[in-house]
Amino acid sequence: MTGLLEPKAIGTDLRRRDGALKVTGAARYAYEAPVDNAAYAHPVQATIGRGRVTSVDTAAAEALDGVIAVLTHENAERLASTEDAELAVLQSGDVAFRGQVIALVVAETSETARHAADLVTVHYDEQEHDCVLDPDGELYKPDKVNPAFETDTAVGDVAGAMASADVTVEQTYTTAMYHNNPLEPHATTALWQPAGDGGDLTLWDSTQGVHPARSTVAEVFGLAEDQVRVVCPYVGGGFGSKGTPHAHVILAAAAARAVPGRPVKLALTRPQMFALAGYRTPTIQRMQLAANRDGVLSAIAIDVVEQTSRIKEFAEQTGVPTRTMYRAPNRRTTHRLAALDVPVPSWMRAPGECPGMFGPEVAMDELAEALGIDPVELRIRNEPEVDPDTGHPFSSRNLVACLREGAARFGWDERDPRPGVRLRDGWLIGTGVASSVYPVHQMPQSTATIRCEDGRYVVEIGAADLGTGTWTTLAQIAADALAVPVADVQVCIGDTAYPMASVAGGSSGMITWGSAVVEAAHAFREKFGDDPADGDEAEGSVSENPMAERYAMYAFGAQFAEAHVNADTGEIRVPRLLGVFAAGRIVNPRTARSQFQGGMTMGLSMALHETSVMDPRFGHVVNHDLAEYHVATNADVADLQAHWLDEHDDKVNPMGVKGIGEIGIVGTAAAVANAVHHATGVRVRDLPITLDKLL
Ligand code: MOS
Repeated sequence: MTGLLEPKAIGTDLRRRDGALKVTGAARYAYEAPVDNAAYAHPVQATIGRGRVTSVDTAAAEALDGVIAVLTHENAERLASTEDAELAVLQSGDVAFRGQVIALVVAETSETARHAADLVTVHYDEQEHDCVLDPDGELYKPDKVNPAFETDTAVGDVAGAMASADVTVEQTYTTAMYHNNPLEPHATTALWQPAGDGGDLTLWDSTQGVHPARSTVAEVFGLAEDQVRVVCPYVGGGFGSKGTPHAHVILAAAAARAVPGRPVKLALTRPQMFALAGYRTPTIQRMQLAANRDGVLSAIAIDVVEQTSRIKEFAEQTGVPTRTMYRAPNRRTTHRLAALDVPVPSWMRAPGECPGMFGPEVAMDELAEALGIDPVELRIRNEPEVDPDTGHPFSSRNLVACLREGAARFGWDERDPRPGVRLRDGWLIGTGVASSVYPVHQMPQSTATIRCEDGRYVVEIGAADLGTGTWTTLAQIAADALAVPVADVQVCIGDTAYPMASVAGGSSGMITWGSAVVEAAHAFREKFGDDPADGDEAEGSVSENPMAERYAMYAFGAQFAEAHVNADTGEIRVPRLLGVFAAGRIVNPRTARSQFQGGMTMGLSMALHETSVMDPRFGHVVNHDLAEYHVATNADVADLQAHWLDEHDDKVNPMGVKGIGEIGIVGTAAAVANAVHHATGVRVRDLPITLDKLL
């Protein structure tokens, strides 16, 4: 690597290039794909928690005017691959969780399809189901945790350190089950051309990655990749839930093949999303901290229990951030899973780090209180020189600078450490802090092409913009790498017609696609110099970053919260959230601030509002809509500030970017919980923090 790109367009706060299209309604989403003569599909979902379908009576549905077909496990096409049980839709009568799709109605309108779905009568052989995460129930040790981390790690003797320490904290913390609720529901339009076997499939799918979605779908249907095209220029939010195709994508494609000549549109309803689009597992985190009187940690341990579905393993890497955050000679992290009769968990913003920083960062606050040491200072005293997990140096690590800058901006230094003593106009007031961390992920595969056309530079890469700003920020990166004005760069993304790009996941988008664009720009300039002719084209791809073998690469942050708790009612308000992040170079302050603030808002929501309530009798989430599943709204967000340090890291990639989509949510809930404790003296260790837990 030859050092960092010279920034000119990078760092400017360009407006989103797709902004006007979106606010005027001209941006076309998956369900609005321009197809003729579309039919509409609506799933029928299982109403038992586990068992078998013994009979399906579709006569009444089929008799309804406008119904074209009703697919069940008896008449649906056999899929080429059923290896992924979540995607093996309508292949057998087995029911693995309540809400699983057991039939699909295809009709002339979505309303007719929905009505007909209600007319399908299903009989079951019902079995007992288990959908409650119980740390004392049956657990197993997965081979790895996501995406490929060791399940357990252990160094030294945590028990010995706990026994001999001056001060210890030993507590259990829990995070709730959470569901991603992007405004745009999961939706797919599917079209086969020509109709029937051997045809080519086009999917307009709301996805975080057209190329990875294509690979998955091609495999399920036994098609060559070039027989499938996935198109997705715009995404109305994903947060991980659109990071991998779920059952509805396969259903839409299967339905379109079953009604020859008709494209099929399928949009999940909000309640259906709670069973079919993934969710974040609840977690139980047993923490142990041991320290001397000066607050120097001698041990840190986290033992995690979480759930997966019996039909498909998804092992959230909740314990992983504890491996890296603080120095301690004795360390342990473990993960155990309960395989339950529940929908399949999946990706949700900062998987691992987001839930996994709740227990540790509240435990650190408890340790600070026990020691009488300021919580900012306690974290600084346990700053490691190298990554405690790998022994590698950090490519850059500015957690301490974030804590100091945040403390100064927030006014932390005037803080009275005593909990529960600030009563103003009937409200108890407190402040709290927590650390943030998120790894720098570079995906191994992405390619970009750059072509000169009418004197402009056309960059093509099958990347995604799920509201993150890719349309705009990739143009900024290309402009600087080509040393041309950003106005001369046109970016084309969101279609498998463009070169292979990795998923918009793990905050890896700018890192991976940006690196491919820089490679393409270097190749272009090498071939054609600075005075190219129309039609000149070059290609660039990312390979592994060799520095990743030698350096630990992470973004860090510090989050500060102010909580007000009504002394009579327990009502909780968070009038102030302030985050300072060290996340490499910021490509566009406008879109970056939006990312950080969005993450922090989602963290606030996790702290106070969000929880998916599982009814153990029936096996489904009862609050499966936005009326009952509460997410933070504008009224919940008051003074929300995101700041960042000017960080230059030439090890991570030529742009010096670290990825910012997820770090904003990490640590927020702990900062709020710590502030609520400082306000009230009540330590809430299970999320969300609702008023009943304070009274
Ligand atoms: Mo993010 S949960 O990796 O899309």
